[in-house]
Order: sequence, then C-alpha cells, then structure tokens
Amino acid sequence: MTKPKRGTWNIEKNDQPPSQSVDDALNIPAMMQNLRQGNDARNLVMQDALDRQEMFQPETPLRSLDDLVVSDVTLAQIRAMLAKVVNHQFLYEQWGLNTIDPHGGRTAINLYGPPGTGKSFCAEAIAHALAMPIIRVNYAEIESKFVGDTPKNIKAAFAKAKAVNALLFFDEADSILGKRLTNVTQSADHGVNVSRSVMLLELDNFQGVTIFATNLASNYDTAFVRRILGHIEMPLPDHDCRKRLWQYHIPDKMETEPMEMRHLEQLANATDGLSGGDILNCVVTAATTAVQRTGRERVVKMSDFLMAIEQVKKAKQDIGGATPHVTRSVMGIDDLPPDVRQTYNKTQ
Ligand SMILES: Nc1ncnc2c1ncn2[C@@H]1O[C@H](COP(=O)(O)OP(=O)(O)OP(=O)(O)O)[C@@H](O)[C@H]1O
Ligand SMILES: [Mg+2]
Repeated sequence: MTKPKRGTWNIEKNDQPPSQSVDDALNIPAMMQNLRQGNDARNLVMQDALDRQEMFQPETPLRSLDDLVVSDVTLAQIRAMLAKVVNHQFLYEQWGLNTIDPHGGRTAINLYGPPGTGKSFCAEAIAHALAMPIIRVNYAEIESKFVGDTPKNIKAAFAKAKAVNALLFFDEADSILGKRLTNVTQSADHGVNVSRSVMLLELDNFQGVTIFATNLASNYDTAFVRRILGHIEMPLPDHDCRKRLWQYHIPDKMETEPMEMRHLEQLANATDGLSGGDILNCVVTAATTAVQRTGRERVVKMSDFLMAIEQVKKAKQDIGGATPHVTRSVMGIDDLPPDVRQTYNKTQ
C-alpha cells in the first residue's frame, strides 16, 4: 500500500474523499496568518526599538580637557581612564589582561561631586579626547510614566551608542543607579527595580565607554559600584582652580577694566565655596549689569564682579544649592521580588 501523500487520501481504504483536506486539517491559511502576524509583531517591536533610539542623538563634543579646570590629582585620574580606553587592545591582548578581566572591554566612569563642579563638562571633554560623539541621557528622558518603558529606553540608549560608537553619558545617574528598593509595594517600585537590573545587564554587555555623573554617589547600589572602573571626585574648586576658572570664564572679547593677577586673586578669594557653575553665573550677571551703562562706563568693572558674587552667594543661601545628602537603606537580595531577583542574580 502506498503511503498517502500529503493532501491526498487513501482510495483503497476509502473511496470517499475525506470531509477535510490535510491542508485544512493542518489549517495552513491560519498558520500563514499567524506567521504573518508574528512577523508583523516582530517588525513592530523592531520599529519601536528604532523609534526609541531616535530619543538619543549623538553630539559632537566641543569642549576639551584643556578648558576643564581641575586639580592635578583629578586630571591624573581622568588621564588614567583615557589611557585604559586608548591602550585597550595592547593592555587586554598583548599584556593578557583579558585572561584575568574578561569584562574589561567596557569602561564605566563615575564623576561625583557637588552641583556645578564640571561633571557634564568633563564628560564632554573625555568624549572630545577620545574623538567620539557623546550621547547624553537624562533620567527624565528615559523614565516613562508607563511601567515597562524605562527598561526599553535604557536598552535603546545602549543600542544607539553601540550603533554610532558614541560615548554614553548618564547625567543625574543616582536616579538610575540608586539602591534597589526593599519594600516593593507598588508596581512602580517593581518597575524601578527592573530598570536597575536591566541597566546592570546592559552595562555588562556594552563594550564602549559609559560615564555617569551624580551629586549623590553615596546612594549608588553596590552592584553598580563594582562595575565602575574609576570613581572620580569633582570637588568644589580650590583657590588656584578658582583663579583659573575666572580666567577661563572672562572672554577675551569682553571689555573689562584692566585685570591683573591681584584682581584674579581677589575674585578667587571672594568665591571661596562657590563652584565653576557659580563663577559662570557671576560673570554673566556682572556683564549684564555693565552692558546697561553707556559710553566709557560700558565696561565690566571689578565692582560689577564683586556685586555679582554677592548676588550669587545670596541666591544660593536663600534658594539652596548645598549638596543634598540622601541616605537610603541597603536592601538585601532576598528582599527582591522573585523575578527581579532572578535577573539580578544573572548579573552577579
Ligand atoms: N571644572 C570646571 N572647569 C571649567 N568650567 C567649569 C568647571 N566647573 C564648572 N564649570 C562651568 O560651569 C558650567 C556648568 O558646569 P557643569 O554643568 O559641567 O557642572 P555639573 O557638575 O555637571 O553640574 P550639575 O551637578 O548641576 O549637573 C560649565 O559649563 C562651565 O562653564
Ligand atoms: Mg551636569
């Protein structure tokens, strides 16, 4: 007896055609339809991922390390990080670091310090030194009101950075890298924990350069701390740095009273406790005052700078600006919900 072919029937046994063909029995059209729908769904997912990547646009860094005013110690730390990236091939292949540090492909740097001390500036300058475009990611941009979207946005940021070989800069990173929450009571809390676990996984799989910046380093989850190669403090500037910051922030084109070294000393003394960002504000305020005068008086005078310093100091005092200090309790792995714990364990 010949074996019935697919789509035929056995006439020896049954001279009546079956009520349903094998194709019908297998429901081929429905399978095709499912396949099409599957493809459509996959296409939608891919399209969604590409749309999300549009949120993250690479920029060409303009400011360089020559412009960044930091102490010699901080500069040496930054240069050490750059040396690791630039000499990666040599270090990991020729000198065999890959055997002891298989995840060493990535370089994650954390810049921490009070507001306005040049963390964003420094990230840009590092990208400039590496001749890489920079993608700035702000937590507000990647956090979505809808639970489940933040992890997709995190993935999209990494995917975009990989696609265009850009340095990935996470500003206000404490919101992303903070300690995972212990008492997960609401789905939003659960979402935060998932986002942080996704961040860990993405970081592990990324071979590029990531920079985090925060005012609240003490709030970092230890799992992140371990993955970060270098923690570089960006403190408030000392006297010497403040002098250089004043020099840097007064443009050559700006008409000022003749400025000598003693004037810079005076300005540096008067701005003790202020950041580079504050000094920038002082210069803008002083220039804005001076521009309202006419004739020969239309130059920025020392008195304008000193008055501006007082205004900036007062505003900081009244409105705040001191480094916020937040402490949260460290959570145990056992406190995580089971699915998050699973993701977390994979990252260990
Ligand atoms: N170390 C610095 N060297 C040169 N300029 C600086 C420095 N620090 C601050 N500035 C000036 O202040 C501006 C603001 O600095 P920046 O945004 O980099 O600070 P930040 O540490 O990222 O602040 P925040 O914590 O508020 O994000 C800079 O654009 C620059 O003009
Ligand atoms: Mg910043």
